[in-house]
Amino acid sequence: MKRQTFFKMLLMAGGAILLLPQRLSAKSSNKKPKLTPKQLARTPATKPGEVPNFASGMLDSDMSGLGPDGKPTGQRATFTGTSKANAKAEEAMAHKMKLTPEEQAILDGRDGEEKAKLMKILVQFGNIFGAEQLVDLGGAPHSNMFIGAGYMASMIKMLDQCARAGLKSYAPYTVNPRPYDVYNVQNNPKDMTLIYEGYPLQKELDYVHVRLGAPDLNYRTCACYLDEVGNAPEPGTYVAWAESSAVNYGNSVLGIRTNRNGAGMDLLQAMLGKAPKFGLMTDEGRQAKWLVEIKTSKEPDWGVIGTAIGRKVVEDIPYITGLDQYFEGGKVTPDNLHLLKAMGSATASSGAVGLYHVEGVTPDAKKLGRKLLVEGYKTYIIDDEEQKRIVDSFPNLWPEEDGDPTAAFIGCPHNTYHEVIKWGKMVTEALDKAGKKEAAIPVYMFMPNKVRDRAIKEYGELISRMKRAGMHATNMCSVSYAGMKGFSERVRGVTNSAKTRNYSSIRYFPDEILVKIIVTGKIPQGT
Ligand code: F3S
Repeated sequence: MKRQTFFKMLLMAGGAILLLPQRLSAKSSNKKPKLTPKQLARTPATKPGEVPNFASGMLDSDMSGLGPDGKPTGQRATFTGTSKANAKAEEAMAHKMKLTPEEQAILDGRDGEEKAKLMKILVQFGNIFGAEQLVDLGGAPHSNMFIGAGYMASMIKMLDQCARAGLKSYAPYTVNPRPYDVYNVQNNPKDMTLIYEGYPLQKELDYVHVRLGAPDLNYRTCACYLDEVGNAPEPGTYVAWAESSAVNYGNSVLGIRTNRNGAGMDLLQAMLGKAPKFGLMTDEGRQAKWLVEIKTSKEPDWGVIGTAIGRKVVEDIPYITGLDQYFEGGKVTPDNLHLLKAMGSATASSGAVGLYHVEGVTPDAKKLGRKLLVEGYKTYIIDDEEQKRIVDSFPNLWPEEDGDPTAAFIGCPHNTYHEVIKWGKMVTEALDKAGKKEAAIPVYMFMPNKVRDRAIKEYGELISRMKRAGMHATNMCSVSYAGMKGFSERVRGVTNSAKTRNYSSIRYFPDEILVKIIVTGKIPQGT
């Protein structure tokens, strides 16, 4: 599958999962071939009682693990963070969760027709994944419903109906960045036309969020856990988050308990304040099947090791050693959290990792140590050679392979305050050294407005120097920008985000090389 289509598929899969329980009930026809997303969208409504053709395809995906030889291992991912090898739709549906009298009353319509429908979906979702019970949610939700494209129409309509019925999230929630920024980046008629035609439902979606309980657009980000945004529930809290990088960071670094929810399932659970407990929400589901030993001779490239781990474990949980030396006293702080953000989001995008443990650093690992490893765990060693092998596997997807770069993309997941200041200093100092005022190519710095505002307040002079040098602060999603029609044909992008590389034609470089490219507009010889 092409990486560029994967991101869209993920959203579609979330949407499809939302519709699934209304349709699944009895016999399976899962011997039929899997459908492509396009075919899936055209699948006619099935009669009650029938399992639709695409149902079997929802229990896993075509994402495969890669062995040391770079060949697929045959392992499959469900994208929920809980593998169900060879799962069958009809078998999954046979399971029945226990409900409390209160939950049964909601299901029976006590709190209205809309809530009853949501509960029906949630119960069947839980049944499919073998949950024993629903749990009450705490903290605050995070939603990845951020694309107002036509293919999201049915989901947006359903959420609009919920909003009209007066339903709301149990707590104010955060939402992923919007897919475009017509103020700072796509501020030209051609791009704006593409955007308004490509995202005709953006206003409807934003309006849904306003009514369901999201704050204003200044809080839009995938890095909802940053101090400036403030969605960082206490360790052990059950929440329903969507957005692979946020789920991955939340489960691993914050110690919260959420599965990798599809788009829409996040809000459905938020409106009920409940989630089926399975997978990454359970002690058993948080155990590691892999011991990953980082043995590089110097600080690893965090995006590269994340890619390596994701490819290897797919959606199993890795217990990673050798990284505590980069976190003084085993503490994750605002100044070093970007390292785990970079590694984790790469594991979540090159594989489907929803949780990892770092020995001596992350909360579960601090508490339980190697007791987190299951019996018979497998071992994967990443040394200099393995790190190089992964880098060498990154293809050059530019149509003109030898062309010069035309734009730099920094901040996927969104930049932290520390990263913004670090990049501002690195680039402006390098420009000063080269006797230049402006970067050779535009630099897009992706960040929540709340981080931008803090940076302006505390480092106003640097931020204005960055602006003059051609570094643009934007609160949109990097990959959505790279997914714009015609983008890969006209932009030769460079990035330090393994996630952006994974989903686009943008090429990956380490920070020090990226700075040189930004200053000169050329890729250094021998890179
Ligand atoms: Fe965030 Fe978009 Fe990257 S949501 S993690 S900037 S793909």
